[in-house]
Amino acid sequence: MVLEADRIVLRGARRVVTCAGDRSSPTGALENVEVLVEHGRVAAVLPAGAVTSPDVLAHDLKGALLTPALIDCHTHPAFMTARTGEWLSRLHGASYEDIAAAGGGILSSVRSLRAAGREALTRATLRNLLRLRAHGVAFVEGKSGYGLSLEHEIASLEAIGAAAREADMLATRTCLAAHSLPAEYRGEPARRDAYIELVCRAILPEVARRGLAERADVFCERGAFTPEQTLAVGRAARELGLRMTIHADQLSASGGARAAAELEADSADHLEFTGEADQLAMLEAGVSAVLLPGSTFHLRQERWADARGLIARGLNVALSTDFNPGSSPICSPAFIMHLAVTKLAMTPAQALLGFTVNAARALRIKDGEAGVIAPGARAAFATWDLDHEDEIAAFAGSNLCTGVLTCRNWQA
Ligand code: NIG
Ligand code: FE
Repeated sequence: MVLEADRIVLRGARRVVTCAGDRSSPTGALENVEVLVEHGRVAAVLPAGAVTSPDVLAHDLKGALLTPALIDCHTHPAFMTARTGEWLSRLHGASYEDIAAAGGGILSSVRSLRAAGREALTRATLRNLLRLRAHGVAFVEGKSGYGLSLEHEIASLEAIGAAAREADMLATRTCLAAHSLPAEYRGEPARRDAYIELVCRAILPEVARRGLAERADVFCERGAFTPEQTLAVGRAARELGLRMTIHADQLSASGGARAAAELEADSADHLEFTGEADQLAMLEAGVSAVLLPGSTFHLRQERWADARGLIARGLNVALSTDFNPGSSPICSPAFIMHLAVTKLAMTPAQALLGFTVNAARALRIKDGEAGVIAPGARAAFATWDLDHEDEIAAFAGSNLCTGVLTCRNWQA
């Protein structure tokens, strides 16, 4: 819902979860308060009834739990359809890497994307973003990566931009041209370097020239790209003014987290196989940890990311759905929070912060602008039919998010 007024007061919330708390109250939840919004930004959180001016539009939340709109900081929304058949093959013994090596996996999504027209791709991307929005997300990071050619990577990033506008969401766009080696480059090993050349010399420069992405990403993994190739992409991105993020250590100790540290990337994501030394290198380089337990779960991996170690060592730990057609056809942050609590031993509060303030940090969004309900924050909220914020993770089997609420000019 979009509230079309310049001055708005949100009242009648059961609890306002500001995500701007302190040690004693990490979620910063308050009761008997109302939120004043002016010109698309939070102006103040005040005692209930404090705003009396008749020129302020009063919106009654009718007992909802109010949180900041969620931030999903790692998604692959530019895809046509989920690869459910592969999931079933994996249940019968095939591995994610076997399926990819046989030309399925990411390449199967590439084939369906290339076969679709631009309009169909934009419609499919919008559908995917609206699936996230229905679960409370207003800020989304969206990656390309199922195009793997100049033409189709550009089409993917344009589709993400157009779909986000249509969905009333704010997108950070990331070019993941280095997601997999496209079919036309398979064959001799040297072709892998030739494709990386194409990414560095043609795709990223054109993406940057057209302003279609703020960041680049690499799938650093055996069967995908090496740490050296990751560093090459990272250096090219830096010269073009693009920031970096990396798919790191998902299926093996790939060297991805180490490369992210060397590149001072925004984040290293997945981290199932990242040990202490590389975690410390990330900390030193100011790299956030983005954990994606949805893919660990869906791929039925035995090894989960070391969330407790990362938090104990002082890293910024965010969570994300990794929403994609293969390894994580999961568009529910609440379900990811549930996995974070049950499988990564995070607290419900840490899980919620992982989708709000910590996700904002992982995307290097200006401090205080997103992921909190505090003066200066963009006026985008999620409402929940729940009594307490810990229930978001606990009740994950049903979508109890009742919607995203935005106020006029929240994106400006
Ligand atoms: O984050 N690991 C690489 N990329 C995605 C999976 C993409 C896919 O399977 O389509 C991920 O898990
Ligand atoms: Fe991913």
